[in-house]
Amino acid sequence: MILNTELEYKGNLFPSNITKYSKDVDVLHFSTSNNVILKLTVLRDSVLRFTYTTVGKFERDFSYAIDEDASRGYNHLEITDDEEKYVVTTSKLICHIHKSDLRISLYDAADNKIICEDELGFHWEESYELGGDIVKMSKAAQNGESYYGLGDKPEHLNLKGRRFENWATDSYAFGKHTDPIYKAIPFYTGLHNGKSYGIFFDNTFRTYFDFCSERRNVTSFWAQGGEMNYYFIYGPKMQDVVKNYTDLTGTPELPPLWALGYHQCKWSYYPESNVKEITAKFRELQIPCDAIYLDIDYMEGFRCFTWSKDYFPDPKRMVKELADDGFKTVVIIDPGIKIDNEYSVFREGLEKDYFCKRADGPYMKGKVWPGECYFPDFTRPEVREWWAGLFKELIEDIGVKGVWNDMNEPAVMDVPGKTFPPDVRHDYDGNPCSHNKAHNIYGMQMARATYHGLKRYNYPKRPFVITRSAYSGTQRYTSTWMGDNVATWEHLQIANIQAQRLALSGFSFAGSDIGGFAEQPNGELYARWIQLGVFHPFCRTHSSGDHGEQEPWAFDTEITDVVRKFIEIRYQLLPYLYTAFYQYSQDNVPMLKSLVLFDQDDVQTHYRIDEFIFGNQILVCPINEPNAKGRRMYIPRGEWFNYWNKEQVSGGKEMWVDADLDSMPIFVKAGAIIPKYPIQQYVGEKVIEELGLDVYYKNGKEDSELYEDADDGYDYTKGRYSLKKFNLAGSEDKLIIRIHKRGQYVTTYNTFKVNLYGLPFEVKSIKVDNEYVDLADVKFENNSLVISKEFTNLQIKG
Ligand code: GLC
Repeated sequence: MILNTELEYKGNLFPSNITKYSKDVDVLHFSTSNNVILKLTVLRDSVLRFTYTTVGKFERDFSYAIDEDASRGYNHLEITDDEEKYVVTTSKLICHIHKSDLRISLYDAADNKIICEDELGFHWEESYELGGDIVKMSKAAQNGESYYGLGDKPEHLNLKGRRFENWATDSYAFGKHTDPIYKAIPFYTGLHNGKSYGIFFDNTFRTYFDFCSERRNVTSFWAQGGEMNYYFIYGPKMQDVVKNYTDLTGTPELPPLWALGYHQCKWSYYPESNVKEITAKFRELQIPCDAIYLDIDYMEGFRCFTWSKDYFPDPKRMVKELADDGFKTVVIIDPGIKIDNEYSVFREGLEKDYFCKRADGPYMKGKVWPGECYFPDFTRPEVREWWAGLFKELIEDIGVKGVWNDMNEPAVMDVPGKTFPPDVRHDYDGNPCSHNKAHNIYGMQMARATYHGLKRYNYPKRPFVITRSAYSGTQRYTSTWMGDNVATWEHLQIANIQAQRLALSGFSFAGSDIGGFAEQPNGELYARWIQLGVFHPFCRTHSSGDHGEQEPWAFDTEITDVVRKFIEIRYQLLPYLYTAFYQYSQDNVPMLKSLVLFDQDDVQTHYRIDEFIFGNQILVCPINEPNAKGRRMYIPRGEWFNYWNKEQVSGGKEMWVDADLDSMPIFVKAGAIIPKYPIQQYVGEKVIEELGLDVYYKNGKEDSELYEDADDGYDYTKGRYSLKKFNLAGSEDKLIIRIHKRGQYVTTYNTFKVNLYGLPFEVKSIKVDNEYVDLADVKFENNSLVISKEFTNLQIKG
């Protein structure tokens, strides 16, 4: 072995030879002569967990990331051994554990080809200062390997050649290479030779990932404490890797449909009259909007759960009036609780001893917006319960519909490191530890407690929460945004990459501050950013408010018209977006797909960053530059239709696409059936009486889906949902659509407006449910027809 030859290996310790092996159903233990134990757990045929200890004993097995409903179970498990190695075989994987040094090699059970193998494998460095080990893992990089994932990193989508740190950090006006920023999502996928796998390093300490940056052929990851504990997830399809990781760490339940509408935010809208002016203007200009945000100035001296009496004398009335006009009110709640004996939340927290403490006993005191604060220890179940209870008045009584959790990295002002010092103690759900271990999950536990509060007091409606900081698994409780970006063209591109990266890191419900938080966009940048933002699962304009206005009408009327046009597209596509959310929530399918996730076998996609698939069938590519009349972009393989002019293009190539300021490159996959609602000013404004179905011809087959329910509430969990599966089959002179319906929800419409695009033949006859219809009866005109009943079969013939 190449020990101690390179400087960086000095001080590293390595496992020696295996001396003991034991098996307990799906858990295998391998012990070495120098007291290292590897515990290998077979979770699924394609998911193995590797945990190492150097002290002869494992920690209590506890994780905030892993979803309690994660699937478990395999079809096949066989363990053999020879001179050199143990061999663990499942129906998907072959895993070698080398007897001489505990190194691991993983092969595809289908073709015996290498997927991933240890270079040095597990090693560690004892750290006197940290009081534990720095646990390390290194893997050999395979030929042509690419890497993706890691949450919110504002870097090239393909992580190869770079090194990263995971440590949740308040990062005002972060830039293209700033690292770390707000989130810590220690999950990545590797892709080489058509095979993709994932590694989830479930360790909440400060972690590092190096993708062939330090050494060209080596990928490594390590943590400043805790155990080497990672999940290996095999594809070979990257989509399956992401799905399995998402299964492991969970998905959110469906949000209320309004949460997928457009949101307007600023730091801050106040007083009440200003809020009303803004909401009235949306209605006056007929720009759809569902949510209005109140930033910190709604509070009394930034005390959470209070209202400024001067600015908001009667919040309940205001919230009701906003609701009557279709606006849902979302308010910010930060973790810092102002030290103030007159303030009941503070007094209660103090009396109950719910605030975090320093190692020697005093409370953790830090400055945030309200001045000096104490901070709840959200890692204690009773503190989370208390916190959830604090939302009673806001939600149940005042009628607030959503809560925005910010500064939860946790951010502390005017101190080195901008957060708690490492000695702060946390309960960690009965596993007491220092801030070194709890830092990265602090924000997650806050958002979790907030979610439970909303769920309780908003019931039977669904909760809506948004958080800034997150660790793996946070997506179960909340949506997220990327934090304090900047109004520059570069940041528009970063926002695009971050949304894609989060989606392939299991966190789909995400969006950027549209237009940029810091600094002021010009109208063109704002319009281009809205165009991108309407294709992100979470769609909100937000700005620091320091530099002027950032509402859709803040520029000139041309810009206002572009913004309206694109927000209207989002509202028309709500049933499509909601269906994508359903697929995410139910089947772990990421709502945005980077091209590499969409077609990994096409190597052209491995370094693409701007183009992505919204849902399953709409290809989008933002304009990232000023004064553009269009751009070059890569069209992935297959047949596509230009959304605007319905021209058909064959993919697998780069091409120029026109896009004046009121347009952007959008393509729809041939064969897709895209459901559309009429434009509404807010969700529920209209009773939907007609469903649009945009049918894009394909010579061949394509499946589409449409999920609907009551748009809110939990009736859908009792079967009251409607899931339509569309099977399209086209040939030279025929197009057949079959619809299979599931669920007991009765939609409010029974009229379907079917728009047929790209038919290569002239329509001569139409059959609905096997009966010929008179073309006049179905108002057949310009390849569009109206069917005024639920149908299961449509045949169009030339
Ligand atoms: C932080 C947030 C930002 C918010 C501001 C004031 O900077 O990231 O979104 O507006 O605090 O609350």
